[in-house]
Amino acid sequence: MLRLPSVGRALASAAKSSMALNTVPVRAASNMVEVFVDGKSLEVETGTTVLQACEKAGIQIPRFCYHERLSVAGNCRMCLVEIEKVVKPVAACAMPVMKGWNILTNSEKTRKAREGVMEFLLANHPLDCPICDQGGECDLQDQSMQFGSDRSRFTEGKRAVEDKNIGPLIKTIMTRCIQCTRCVRFASEIAGVEDLGTTGRGNNLQIGTYVEKMFMSELSGNVIDICPVGALTSKPYAFTSRPWETRKTESIDVLDAVGSNILVSTRGGEVMRVMPRLNEDINEEWISDKTRFAYDGLKRQRLTQPMVKDDAGQLTPTTWEDALTRVAGALQSVQGNEVAAIAGGMADAETLVSLKDLLNRLDSENLCTEEVFPMSGAGTDLRSNYLLNSRITGIEECDLLLLVGTNPRYEAPLFNARIRKSWLHNELRVAMVGHNVDLSFTYDHLGEETSVLKELANGTHPFCEVLSAAKRPVVVVGSSALQRADGAAILGVVSSIAQNARTSSGVEEGWKVLNILHRVASQVAALDLGYKAGVDAIRANPPKVLFLLGADAGCITRADLPKDSLIIYQGHHGDVGAPMADIVLPGAAYTEKNATYVNTEGRSQHTRLAVSAPGMAREDWKIIRAVSELAGVALPYDSVEEVRSRLAGVALPYDSVEEVRSRLAEVSPNLVRYDDVEEANYFKQANELAQTPFRRSGLDYHKHTSWTFLGDYLQKNWRFRCSYKTPMDDRQNPAPRSQTRGRHIDDQTCTDETEHRRDRKTILYVRRGGHSGRTGSIFSSGRPRLTLCLEPKRNKTRVYLTPPPTTSNL
Ligand code: SF4
Ligand code: FES
Repeated sequence: MLRLPSVGRALASAAKSSMALNTVPVRAASNMVEVFVDGKSLEVETGTTVLQACEKAGIQIPRFCYHERLSVAGNCRMCLVEIEKVVKPVAACAMPVMKGWNILTNSEKTRKAREGVMEFLLANHPLDCPICDQGGECDLQDQSMQFGSDRSRFTEGKRAVEDKNIGPLIKTIMTRCIQCTRCVRFASEIAGVEDLGTTGRGNNLQIGTYVEKMFMSELSGNVIDICPVGALTSKPYAFTSRPWETRKTESIDVLDAVGSNILVSTRGGEVMRVMPRLNEDINEEWISDKTRFAYDGLKRQRLTQPMVKDDAGQLTPTTWEDALTRVAGALQSVQGNEVAAIAGGMADAETLVSLKDLLNRLDSENLCTEEVFPMSGAGTDLRSNYLLNSRITGIEECDLLLLVGTNPRYEAPLFNARIRKSWLHNELRVAMVGHNVDLSFTYDHLGEETSVLKELANGTHPFCEVLSAAKRPVVVVGSSALQRADGAAILGVVSSIAQNARTSSGVEEGWKVLNILHRVASQVAALDLGYKAGVDAIRANPPKVLFLLGADAGCITRADLPKDSLIIYQGHHGDVGAPMADIVLPGAAYTEKNATYVNTEGRSQHTRLAVSAPGMAREDWKIIRAVSELAGVALPYDSVEEVRSRLAGVALPYDSVEEVRSRLAEVSPNLVRYDDVEEANYFKQANELAQTPFRRSGLDYHKHTSWTFLGDYLQKNWRFRCSYKTPMDDRQNPAPRSQTRGRHIDDQTCTDETEHRRDRKTILYVRRGGHSGRTGSIFSSGRPRLTLCLEPKRNKTRVYLTPPPTTSNL
């Protein structure tokens, strides 16, 4: 089945050869041909184009219509080069090399050809560079300077083309268009919408939407970047700044869980625009419209000063000193179990760990996320249970993709673009259980009911034949599907489908079938750090003090809490959370801090500070650090001189973030292994936990030999999610036994299995090499599931299944 749109069909083979050039470095000698570039000998694969051969030789050929991620159109002729003994110059982007050719990239004929093409292009171009937003980053400007002539023979009037209105995001000045058709090919090939095209012929050829309509794509803004001239520019950015006035900061996007790499362009403390940054593993060179255009929200309706509720119930501005003192006082006035925190979708890992450490030091373990994730079965104890394990690039290697309860086009547009790419080029077959939505590619819609999942799991659905025939299957379940009341059952049955597909495919051990697609940027880091998913625990046990860390989804309202409860909101916009809060602490947005985020694949990346936070807003972890000190439980990651400036504005030196990161590394090392995706492959164990009911016969632990693999992994990758208590604290101020609840259990308290069993109500822990190892919670969730006893001295790992906590055995 050939799925390439008509515009690229004719030259699909040339595009394929370009991919092959990048991905297959070594081929049999018979596939190679010898060519010469300016007399220099070069071996290239058969089917390589002249342009690619020149690039391999390190020579850049000018081009307008050619783009390595699009099919070859060959319509601008800017890439003309002379081939020795060939009469006419050839278009380098569309011509495959032939054995023995000598490509002359710098000959008189080549130079004349380029000058001629440039003369034609400029004959109709308005040359309005001084008022063009593309000025300074325009391919036509650059190449006319380098390859054009200094005069023109055209005296005719220039043609004019009417501008098109294609929506509020993209501005068109169609007189500038050089008809390279990059935008048309992007729309039909990458975005999967047939909105753009050409009408007319010759001098009347125009790019447009045929009838006036919006360019309806979640990736539409990318045409701004690929348009080589100023015909398509950003409407919100129009006439606001010039590229040479701006400073560019490399960062990442946090508006979804993909973690697209971006460049934040700033001028004078203001974000002017957001552009994509190349990352082949995540977003290639595209970003979604939300990522690109949401920056204007960073300047409006911000929380810029601390606020407290007055007697009339109105939030009124106050000083940091007053707000922090009130927060600290509130925290000190209640018991540990009367304090709780909820993390929102944009909280960074540094703040999450600070907040966790603060609450743990106050003897509270009530830390939740707004996003729900089923906690039954393996819950969030096994990392592979809540990650997009196949990675985004893995979609290009699979042959069958089953989507369950997700619309990736809106939840993760770049992930959807990757699926479409694989569907287009690799014949990927896609099936969907969920709403029948337009995903920009065709798929088998299996139904909307959960009964379909059951049929798929027990092999009675007709699609099971296709599933079992797949060689490299992948199942992706959307986190939204798992938020339903029957989310745990959905995860269990999807896990079975994935296990069955793995078994029938005979795929290698390392291949991951089950994947979770998250929607918010903070969720994976929060689960890694041991936050409970969902606020059920808080609803069941309403706290007297509730800390909302950017929690704006409205999952908890005043009605869920006692009348005299106090709500503290910390965040940058305060959409839903701030209006119901008693104290508001203004935090920093993702462009205003150096912060760590983990994407849905489990890949840790960090944002960089591009502009300073507005008004009195401060970096979030520093606010929590200041609160901890005033509450008498100072978190130990800053230096002495920082204390001085605490109340004067919570301003601390930036290098202190390293101290928070060292704590992150202690809690979950993967959080500071930036740009690395740690292997997580415990589907078998997760499936066992999801399917097998726990036995409750006293201390009748089951030994699962398949879990020794998991234990071996954990020996190398410690993940302590227990409360913060440093060895130094232990030595100088040993905590009484009663206070170790919810805290780091020191080695002496658990020297044998009996002790382990006694303590299992608090946390799960690992003992390593008898009493010499560190102990701590390796798994989160407050519900003990697994007890691992690692005995490297005896070269043994024992893994026990812990009975479920009930009133009787707690
Ligand atoms: S609008 Fe830009 S990208 Fe589209 S054809 Fe014209 S010059 Fe090329
Ligand atoms: S780049 Fe080769 S024809 Fe346009």
